[in-house]
Amino acid sequence: SSFSTISLPLFLCTSFWRVCIYFCNGQLLQAFPVCYKKTQLIQKEVKKILAKLDQQIPNVSFSDTRTTTSPEDSKAILLNQKDNYCVGEQLMVLLDMFDHMGKRKAYGGDFFKVRIYSPSIQAGASGHIMDYRNGTYLVSFTLLWEGPIRVSLLLMHPSEGVSALWKARKKVYDKIAFTGKYLNGTSEVSVECGFVMNTSEELCKYLDERDEEAFYCLKPGNIPCEAFVQLMSKNSPISYLTALEMELLDSIHPGVEIPQKFGQIQVSVCTTEMSIQKCNFGLSSHHPTGFAWQNQWYPRFCSITIFRTLKITTCLERKLILFLGDSTLRQWLEYFMKYLKSRKTLIQTDFSEIGRLFSPLLENIQIHWKKHGHPFVTTSEYMTTDHSYAAREIDTVAGDKDTAIVVSLGQHFRPFPIELFIRRMINIREAVQRLFLRSPETKVIIKSENLRKTDIDLERFGDFHGYTQMLAVKDIFQGLNVGFIDAWDMSIAYDTSDVHPPYHVVGNQINLFLNYIC
Ligand SMILES: *[C@@H]1O[C@H](CO)[C@@H](O)[C@H](O)[C@H]1NC(C)=O
Ligand SMILES: *[C@@H]1O[C@H](CO)[C@@H](O)[C@H](O)[C@H]1NC(C)=O
Ligand SMILES: *[C@@H]1O[C@H](CO)[C@@H](O)[C@H](O)[C@H]1NC(C)=O
Ligand SMILES: *[C@@H]1O[C@H](CO)[C@@H](O)[C@H](O)[C@H]1NC(C)=O
Repeated sequence: SSFSTISLPLFLCTSFWRVCIYFCNGQLLQAFPVCYKKTQLIQKEVKKILAKLDQQIPNVSFSDTRTTTSPEDSKAILLNQKDNYCVGEQLMVLLDMFDHMGKRKAYGGDFFKVRIYSPSIQAGASGHIMDYRNGTYLVSFTLLWEGPIRVSLLLMHPSEGVSALWKARKKVYDKIAFTGKYLNGTSEVSVECGFVMNTSEELCKYLDERDEEAFYCLKPGNIPCEAFVQLMSKNSPISYLTALEMELLDSIHPGVEIPQKFGQIQVSVCTTEMSIQKCNFGLSSHHPTGFAWQNQWYPRFCSITIFRTLKITTCLERKLILFLGDSTLRQWLEYFMKYLKSRKTLIQTDFSEIGRLFSPLLENIQIHWKKHGHPFVTTSEYMTTDHSYAAREIDTVAGDKDTAIVVSLGQHFRPFPIELFIRRMINIREAVQRLFLRSPETKVIIKSENLRKTDIDLERFGDFHGYTQMLAVKDIFQGLNVGFIDAWDMSIAYDTSDVHPPYHVVGNQINLFLNYIC
């Protein structure tokens, strides 16, 4: 039976409480509203999202790598083979996965990266994967441009590796070691910090009780906790993967093509009808979200304007724009500064790896970037004072039709249990909902994280962790009137694998943003 909870803000409860009315199959289950503490509701939602992810991710173990998925031994079959395809048609590929001993895989959960592309016209798009959970997958590509098209079917991790990564992520918060710096008069003192401190020693607690966010440091002697100035981090010499699991992950890393015989596909334009409307807010479940053509990004189901310098400036006039997140959003600010340079003098800002809050003023355009709250994983020391939780930042925004907020978090959360990320994003959603109550006209855009370099520590920073976070974000913001920029889909289409995507990709993300706000 379907059991659903509807929570309503009711004056019977204080703002920290919500009222829940339970329904079961449409029947009112409880006659009296029950007050739940807001934090309890958040806990519940975190658990629910985690359970959904658990269902999608394989829970398998292995004792011999020869029984794991082998890309070289697997088969890709083109289902609807023909001489010529039309733009708009689907290309269907069946993947039958085998292990290294030539035995059919009996369960799903392999992690793929699939795309179609045409190098001569700088075009690309991701594909959609249906996992039948029996070792067979149906990959579908929507053919979106004319010309010769090639198909790439990359196995990123075998399901056994996916299972190992997911289990290892759940373990603990100690894969990253934080060092905090406190000022003691003119000298500095360094101490250990983190999300969870297994100690009986006195702690400096940095808590956001409303949102259940916490960060701690060992208290340095008599120095007050307010003297906390800088933070840095590094990987701890620790792993929750077994030697065999590591060997397995390394053997496929950074992805192996599944052999295919169908080579190049020919696609032509068969009809000219195109139903195109302006891009709307709200998450779409369509896949792919768009495609690259001659390096320009085109959303799949709506038409966009391509903004050039003058138009960008006109669009941004009188606007207040806040970027809340990581350095992939700082790239947006850098892009604007570079692009609009010729117009006005810019305030010189510091572009060190972990910079401070920037506020370049271009005539009457204000763009700010502020880094998200803990964690920032970097060996460079950074200030803690300009660090704040995005939800708190959003709460300070009055909002109006000329205000736009872009939020993008993810990369720095990958080494920690995913609950931390899920709770953070729920808190942000709550802040966005509060913002919409006082200012429904404010534009809010969520940018998902993108794929990153493959020569990294998979257990801490691998793309599989980013993938689960991206699924969580789509779940959390479903149904809200926010714009969504699927940087994940774009990085597959453009085949970029740099944590900081190249500027032609960043420019296309920004073009989507401008289409949302202007
Ligand atoms: C995975 O499987 C093991 C053994 O069957 C079981 O103990 C564990 O609870 C499972 N984990 C999840 C998340 O389902
Ligand atoms: C796997 O499941 C799909 C969909 O249910 C089915 O069509 C296919 O035959 C199955 N493959 C095998 C090998 O059982
Ligand atoms: C916490 O520290 C104690 C003593 O150092 C140790 O025995 C215990 O295993 C630790 N617990 C965790 C969860 O790390
Ligand atoms: C702070 O500085 C004072 C005076 O220089 C010194 O006595 C004290 O030990 C220092 N505290 C710590 C925790 O280093």
